[in-house]
Amino acid sequence: MDTLTTPGSNSLDAYWMPFTANRDFKANAALISHAEGLYYFTSNGHRLLDAIAGLWCVNAGHGHPRIVEAIQKQAARLDFASSFGLGHPLVFEYANRLTSIAPADMNHVFFTNSGSEAADTAIKIALAYHHARGEGQRQRIVGRQRGYHGVGFGGLSAAGMGPHKKQFGMLLPGAVHLPHTHDPVRNAFSLGQPRHGAELADALEQMIATYDASTIAAVIVEPVAGSTGVLVPPVGYLERLRELCTRHGILLIFDEVVTGFGRLGRPFAADRFGVIPDLLMVAKGMTNGAVPMGGVIASSAIYDAVTGKAGSGAVELSHGYTYSGHPLAAAAGLASLDVYVSEGLFERAARLEPHWQTCAHTLKGLPGVVDIRNLGLLAGIELGEDPVRGKALARNVYEHCFDHGVLVRPVANTIVLSPPLTIGEDEIETIFATIKAALKSD
Ligand SMILES: Cc1ncc(COP(=O)(O)O)c(C=O)c1O
Repeated sequence: MDTLTTPGSNSLDAYWMPFTANRDFKANAALISHAEGLYYFTSNGHRLLDAIAGLWCVNAGHGHPRIVEAIQKQAARLDFASSFGLGHPLVFEYANRLTSIAPADMNHVFFTNSGSEAADTAIKIALAYHHARGEGQRQRIVGRQRGYHGVGFGGLSAAGMGPHKKQFGMLLPGAVHLPHTHDPVRNAFSLGQPRHGAELADALEQMIATYDASTIAAVIVEPVAGSTGVLVPPVGYLERLRELCTRHGILLIFDEVVTGFGRLGRPFAADRFGVIPDLLMVAKGMTNGAVPMGGVIASSAIYDAVTGKAGSGAVELSHGYTYSGHPLAAAAGLASLDVYVSEGLFERAARLEPHWQTCAHTLKGLPGVVDIRNLGLLAGIELGEDPVRGKALARNVYEHCFDHGVLVRPVANTIVLSPPLTIGEDEIETIFATIKAALKSD
């Protein structure tokens, strides 16, 4: 790989990097020095086409001038104002703008600083909602195998990726998990949504039989599971989950940290699938990745239930972060929305989807490719007949692509792709041609 020569023996040691093999990385470090549009540049001048939008977040491309300017101006005007019993106009303006593009009556947003905090916040709001309605015994959270909801104790408990949990003990008591929807035997190489598997949602009925609906607070799922390798929901699956949750008084939480802000060609996955959750988590594309921010968008029914029960002068939800609704994040969020709307980026993603899908599926039949999954501008290329071989192959593809100027992301045995929505047809072709060459060279 084209890497940076470590300057000085210990210069990389102090920073304990997240989700990174620290010792390996630091022995052979590749550092990003700057970015522009669709491209990253490493410290030694290597240009990389960013096929993962940073980490599923830079939907409008890097360093968008309108977003940069908005952050700069806001930093000079108001650096910080507490949101605890105080406020600043911009965050109210942003809340209005954000909820105006949210589905149905999702009219209220609670701001956090990350997707992980959004997961913990959504779970707490679900518990508070049931508590306010006199159903405080509804405490069980239903997640899904292979789900990812960040790294807080709530989101991690609901998530279904064992390796992320093994160091951290028992987590939240009572979290249970639906089966994942990955079914390569029936669904490999599906174009868009796979046909088989809606019935997997019925596992919720078994949980209800086992625990009783009156103990279950919420079901939390990613509409398309991203970090586990892009698992697209089978036709009818999310609809079935919605129906079961409604019937049993269980809240449905969509984690749209990846799928929000145009990734699937609509503002949210909820719009794409026509399935409206009770709580909708956002982060990442919210600010185009430029300032940390997350949020939970809540239906009016939930907001009214939680706030309506408290007496006058009482804090209705004992929850919040020092930086909830931070001025710089609000400025970046507003500017990002402006860019998404004025540049038509959600529609652009929808327009590009057929080409993206066609290019992705040209990899079918190449050595090691066992499945290709896609929806919107997301794709997962699963490699290797067995997970060990697949992981090695994915690493090789990553390194080959890096050396040949394309940044992809290997997660276990899968290459995941989620480019900025500003990408063009030529760059899409470059991404898949480079992956093709990598697979042929292995
Ligand atoms: C679906 C999903 N939820 C939550 C998170 C956590 O977000 P953060 O890393 O901002 O805490 C992520 C991060 O990748 C994610 O993909």
